[in-house]
Amino acid sequence: MAGGVGTPALAAAVTRAGGLGSLGGAYLTPHALRDAIREVRALTNGPLLVNLFAPQPIPTVTREAVALATAELAPFHAALNLSPPTLPERVQEDFTAQLDAVLEERPEVFSVAFGLIPPDALAALRARGVLTVGTATSLAEALALHDSGVDAITVQGGAAGGHRGGWQEDALAETVTLVQEVTRATPLPVIAAGGLMTAGDVRAALAAGATLAQCGTAFLLAHEAGISPPYRQAVQEGTRDTVLTRAYSGRAARGLRTTLTDAVTHPLPFSHQNALTRPLRTAGAQTGQADVLSLWAGTGYRQAQATGAAQIVADLTP
Ligand SMILES: Cc1cc2nc3c(=O)[nH]c(=O)nc-3n(C[C@H](O)[C@H](O)[C@H](O)COP(=O)(O)O)c2cc1C
Repeated sequence: MAGGVGTPALAAAVTRAGGLGSLGGAYLTPHALRDAIREVRALTNGPLLVNLFAPQPIPTVTREAVALATAELAPFHAALNLSPPTLPERVQEDFTAQLDAVLEERPEVFSVAFGLIPPDALAALRARGVLTVGTATSLAEALALHDSGVDAITVQGGAAGGHRGGWQEDALAETVTLVQEVTRATPLPVIAAGGLMTAGDVRAALAAGATLAQCGTAFLLAHEAGISPPYRQAVQEGTRDTVLTRAYSGRAARGLRTTLTDAVTHPLPFSHQNALTRPLRTAGAQTGQADVLSLWAGTGYRQAQATGAAQIVADLTP
């Protein structure tokens, strides 16, 4: 869970409880990623998964598109006394440099969202004994991942919180159904994700053929999570619906409905929009304005428990 919810303490606690703790490193500089991995290693000798976003060509954006996107955000900036939104020159971390940190630190497992692991990266990871995982939101993506040579596939259903992890952003399958389809079509181990909030949900995913279950939303309120106070409050209130939105990052993601998800109709492509909304999100977290925050949450968010990660792992274990 990149972006602050996932912390080294949360990953370590999940691993210590018998799960596979995960670090979402996509928004971290290579230096910060290295430090985060070392922090987990200091807390546990158990296995760790590190997740990044697969490298994407950075799309070019027109001046008109930037003007439209900034105009939509301007009133939110004004309301928070921020200077008008501007697009920074650098919009995303360099995958190759992040991967170098991963190769040095050698987590047991490495996963990506949004695409394929490039062949040279896959070979380098394999040479260091790191297991590789890709994310599929459809059968077609799962087959492409299989052909790319990964060791396992995370199958993400439409209920999942956070970004759609594949590249077909409109694919919103039911988790158990997609697990069944993918396990029939490929021999690779399948990790089920999306809407798994109870031991019963996990049992159903395993019964459908999954080898492991991947849970995000269930850990939102974990004591070890890095959720900001307004985000936590919105999750605990439970009054908002979840929506799929491109408002915050330019890529489809599921989160709680906000005035920003309602207002943004012309987001820039990923990760320009992500860079454009960052000042707003930072200010919102500091000043308690949930309505400008990306409140990533899956459809099952009202079942998230505010307790220690070890208890959450125990409750999810069939
Ligand atoms: C706050 C949050 C952040 C997430 N960040 C990432 C991420 O950085 N990389 C990734 O592959 N998936 C990310 N996900 C998606 C999870 O990997 C997983 O697919 C999803 O949480 C499963 O569905 P659930 O939320 O219903 O448990 C995130 C999910 C949440 C809720």
